Amino acid sequence: MKTKFIAFFLLVFLTFGFSNCVTPKKSGPAKQETIALKDIYKDYFPIGNILTGRYLMGDYVDILTTHFNIVTSENDMKPDSLASRLKPGEYNFGSADRLVDEALDYGMAVHGHTLVWFKQTPAWMTTGTPAQVRTNMVNYINAVLAHYKGRVLSWDVVNEAFNENINPGNQDLSWRTQLREDSPWFKALGADHIELAFRTARAADPDVVLYYNDYNLDNQRKAQVTANMIKEINDKYKAEGNKRNLIEVVGMQAHYGTATNASNVRASIEKFRDIGVKIAISELDVEMKSVGSGSFGAGRNSFTTDVEQRIQAITYAQLFNVFKEYKDHITHVIMWGIDDEFSWKSRGNPCLWDGELKPKQAFWAVVDPNKTLRL
Ligand code: XIL
Repeated sequence: MKTKFIAFFLLVFLTFGFSNCVTPKKSGPAKQETIALKDIYKDYFPIGNILTGRYLMGDYVDILTTHFNIVTSENDMKPDSLASRLKPGEYNFGSADRLVDEALDYGMAVHGHTLVWFKQTPAWMTTGTPAQVRTNMVNYINAVLAHYKGRVLSWDVVNEAFNENINPGNQDLSWRTQLREDSPWFKALGADHIELAFRTARAADPDVVLYYNDYNLDNQRKAQVTANMIKEINDKYKAEGNKRNLIEVVGMQAHYGTATNASNVRASIEKFRDIGVKIAISELDVEMKSVGSGSFGAGRNSFTTDVEQRIQAITYAQLFNVFKEYKDHITHVIMWGIDDEFSWKSRGNPCLWDGELKPKQAFWAVVDPNKTLRL
């Protein structure tokens, strides 16, 4: 009887246990690489990508979990996803919860994106008297932070409050005059909505790290305006006896192009460092044509020449050398997409992997920036 039992267990082990030990679960492209970006950057900063249903399936999930240790949701944690579009006070946490919990199960940290933004927000939130809109904002932030307490490390509290560009002729760098006047939050509550959002978030969950996030922050005028806003709000908060900054991190979205100058990025990082806040590179991608030219690439996930690939790789290498140099001031670097085909800017082929999920020259540039620059 005893021998039969042993033979049975041996058979079960040989059939299932052993095969599980020796056969890799998947053999996607990422598995053929023996390197992982998160290991290469472990002494620098966490490195991340976007959290979206697509990237938790098939070969994507291999790439995501092999190379990245932090994620931020691309769309599922925006107000128009979490809050009911029609009914104030009703929330749809279901799909974001599934993504967040899966990311946490894989051992990745989750950065929340985003609470107060002029886009992707249900209209009811910003409609009504100033007192109503204020209550809507406070209720929303309280509900979301309470729901994700202990699961989400940090949040973009306010996203893109400033005008897109602050042009060279515009010497007015006082921050209140550079806010987007077409933002429904601004229309209802004026410039003070920013401080209100941060104070509400701090009170709702003091364990969460609070970020201001915006793009074109390699533009020195826009960086200066942003720094002015953050410094004023933080100085006021500290004058009340608080030890911590209210706005702790500035997220530089970093939707760049091959014409982006890494020395502008460096200058902005220094500007933010000098007012005593940390910096995140929060949504990095590098399009193959210059930002602002109006047309990017030949088409969705289109063929690109070796020279274009190389120029893009050089840009990535220059940027990562700057990020490494300022590692003590950088909380994380998050890329906005894995592959060119499903990037929000797929026409510009801005990612590290191509449409077939093959690592591009840009990938190798992130692996070893100096090697790319020496070639
Ligand atoms: C983008 C998403 O990638 C798209 O899928 C969506 O259609 C629009 O928003 N700045 C941000 C992000 O803060 O939320 C944006 O994400 C990209 C620009």
